[in-house]
Amino acid sequence: MILTAQEKEMLSGKEGRAVQKSMEILTALGGIFGAEKLVPVNSVQIAGVSYHNLGDAGLEFLEDLAKDGKVRIRTMLNPAGMDLENWKNTGIPADFAEKQTKVIDAFRKLGVTISCTCTPYLIGYNPKIGEHISWSESSAVCFSNSVLGARTNKEGGPSALAAAITGRTPLYGLHLDANRAPKITVDVQAKVKGQHEYGALALAIGKQTKDRIPYIRGIKHASLEELKSFSASFPTYSGASMFHMEGITPDRVSVPTEEIVITQEDVEDAIKFLNDECEVDFVSIGCPHCSMAEMERIASLLNGREVSKETWITTSRQMKGEADKKGWTKTIESSGAKIVCDTCLAVAPLKGRFKAIATNSAKGCYYGRGSNGFKTRFMSLEECIEEATKA
Ligand code: F3S
Repeated sequence: MILTAQEKEMLSGKEGRAVQKSMEILTALGGIFGAEKLVPVNSVQIAGVSYHNLGDAGLEFLEDLAKDGKVRIRTMLNPAGMDLENWKNTGIPADFAEKQTKVIDAFRKLGVTISCTCTPYLIGYNPKIGEHISWSESSAVCFSNSVLGARTNKEGGPSALAAAITGRTPLYGLHLDANRAPKITVDVQAKVKGQHEYGALALAIGKQTKDRIPYIRGIKHASLEELKSFSASFPTYSGASMFHMEGITPDRVSVPTEEIVITQEDVEDAIKFLNDECEVDFVSIGCPHCSMAEMERIASLLNGREVSKETWITTSRQMKGEADKKGWTKTIESSGAKIVCDTCLAVAPLKGRFKAIATNSAKGCYYGRGSNGFKTRFMSLEECIEEATKA
């Protein structure tokens, strides 16, 4: 790789051990993927924050880097393994909380902003079209590439942290025009509405397009929440970290000649695939983390009602702060539902606590099944609330 004079100094250890280690990670990665050089990035989002995923080895790695390392650009975190302020309320064991707190302390020492969310674009981290960033969480990566037009590969936790410490990432993959070109056209002939149907549509498309970036047409209008859901489900069920959606994705591209059609039946099959025969004992809404519009809708649906089973509304702490001001938190919590910040159903240590989950997230079903061994019921937001309040 061609390195600038400053990058060579970083690699030589002149700027400290953490910078040197980070440059070693980035140049090794660039070497594997044939990157010619590094490119400056403006923001970083680090996944792999949960102690559940990191374990003691990950914690040691972070604490070691934090001895002399500091991030040099805007850097935030993906959800951790628990609500950092209110973990006792959600049944998190004290020994887990202690380890998770150490992980967060190491990130804080590194200068990382402790905003543990997979929807940074809802709390002011809005990269511009063409901007190079280094983000990790698959839905945030897909949303930023496909809806915002920013450029990022799906980074692993260590490579994102290395980008934060050096301000650079190897120039390969989705940072380059050639690799962002769609390879197959998808003509959507199904009518979809609401987040869960958009999640099902993304699953139906992803299963057929696999690792090819699709050019999707036939979607007349999609709300921010529907695109958020689509962006979470698509990379979960395909091998690609971006899509082009006609009228939405800002990149200018040629439409591929190979074409497939997605029918109503394909979407219905996807919904069936995510629905098991089961008795729900856990309801989780907010995968990806809830927006203000979702918080308002949930508050209005739960107003004056009581939940009969454990119900989590997961969102960012910033979003909860706004919901507090609007009075929505009080309404939601009066029902017995919990607003859970900083974490989610996939990264909290929930295995064995519940048997079956109801959610409006296709991605949530994937991780509910895979990480936690839950059976899944997949339904609209309104049906999730009905399920939560069912006697
Ligand atoms: Fe976000 Fe967790 Fe879902 S990171 S996209 S809420 S699995």
